[in-house]
Amino acid sequence: MARIERVTVLGSGIMGHGIAQISAMAGYKVIMRDVDQQFLDRAMERIRWSLSKLVEKGRISSSEMASILDRISVTVDLEEAVRQSDLIIEAIPEDMRLKKETFAKIDAIAPADAVLASNTSTLPITEMASATKREDKFVGIHFFNPPQLMQLVEVIPGAKTSSSTVDLAIGYVRSLKKEPILCRKDVAGFIVNRIFIPLVHEAAWDLQDGKAGMREIDAAFKFKLGFPMGIFELADYTGIDVVHKATKEMYARDKRVVNPCPIIEDLYSKGHYGQKSGKGFYEYKQGSYTRIELSMQEAERYNPIRLLAVAINNASWLISNDVASKDDVERALMLGMGIREGIFKVAERVGYAKLVDTLRALRASSKNEFYDPDRFLLSLVK
Ligand SMILES: NC(=O)c1ccc[n+]([C@@H]2O[C@H](COP(=O)([O-])OP(=O)(O)OC[C@H]3O[C@@H](n4cnc5c(N)ncnc54)[C@H](O)[C@@H]3O)[C@@H](O)[C@H]2O)c1
Repeated sequence: MARIERVTVLGSGIMGHGIAQISAMAGYKVIMRDVDQQFLDRAMERIRWSLSKLVEKGRISSSEMASILDRISVTVDLEEAVRQSDLIIEAIPEDMRLKKETFAKIDAIAPADAVLASNTSTLPITEMASATKREDKFVGIHFFNPPQLMQLVEVIPGAKTSSSTVDLAIGYVRSLKKEPILCRKDVAGFIVNRIFIPLVHEAAWDLQDGKAGMREIDAAFKFKLGFPMGIFELADYTGIDVVHKATKEMYARDKRVVNPCPIIEDLYSKGHYGQKSGKGFYEYKQGSYTRIELSMQEAERYNPIRLLAVAINNASWLISNDVASKDDVERALMLGMGIREGIFKVAERVGYAKLVDTLRALRASSKNEFYDPDRFLLSLVK
């Protein structure tokens, strides 16, 4: 397998600066590129702040912090950024045209054997790769936010990605001491978003239909299904703009991946982006991260069976379509969404037959194929 010494990170925003930091911490020489020096200055400030927290906690020494910082350089010049790189990771805005234009330029100037990777959350890897003449050396490496803390990284081959490129991506992720999970096919939403995004909409449908209040749905999601926070709280934390964008991209690729609820469109059009804007499903004190206090009593007033049924159905779809194994889907959800135990264990307790009945009832009332029970799920019904 080719050795990676130099890593280029394109984009120094929320994800880019984190990817640059953890790559430098793993010993790589990193060059980070953005379109304006002020973004790079801000990114370096964030990296210094994050490293100084690690020094305070005794996780690294101040001399280690200095050598990590020494390994990171910044530039606004694209050619300088990529010309000596072994691995180029793109974390620029989620816009297919911009990404394809950027990859086409890089392809012409980067070393012939350099691997190109995208951190996209929702865009097709195969289409992005088609902007280059090295589709075999193109791969999705999907980090979760914040990359410094989240253990999960999905690795997604496009239709023409070679197995040595996949191995290189997996090796790189392991070298960062993160957990790579292979998403074998380039499907809309990959693994975690394919389950997370539809869940937000299902919860929003029950809210819209008056099945329960927001806090009750959130409390049941947290206490009965074992997630670390409510689903609306999680959507606010992720950003309603991010959820909205992911919904649009996923739905455009595959109508059967999500049943979009108008509540999300409404919040988005009002600029209610969640924590970052001070209001989403909940209201927040701007600039500070507040958790929503939820109680067991609230959880008792809502049965989250619709949420579990849809989550398990999408998980099953990934398995039947050979996108990931059952273990990998479970691990991805534990690491990416923080659920305490395997989702199939939760489903088994509730009973697969009940979940299938719930899906069939939703299919009948909505006439939407999205709710058709998947064949893997059906095979679990005794
Ligand atoms: N934010 C998340 O939670 C998250 C999680 C996983 C993946 N992603 C994906 O990561 C990517 C980046 O997202 P983000 O949240 O970090 O965005 P961001 O807006 O915080 O950062 C993007 C950065 O890219 C810069 N940029 C724009 N054009 C560029 C170019 N041609 N070359 C270099 N830099 C350029 C911008 O100036 C900005 O600093 C997107 O594809 C997104 O879908 C985001």
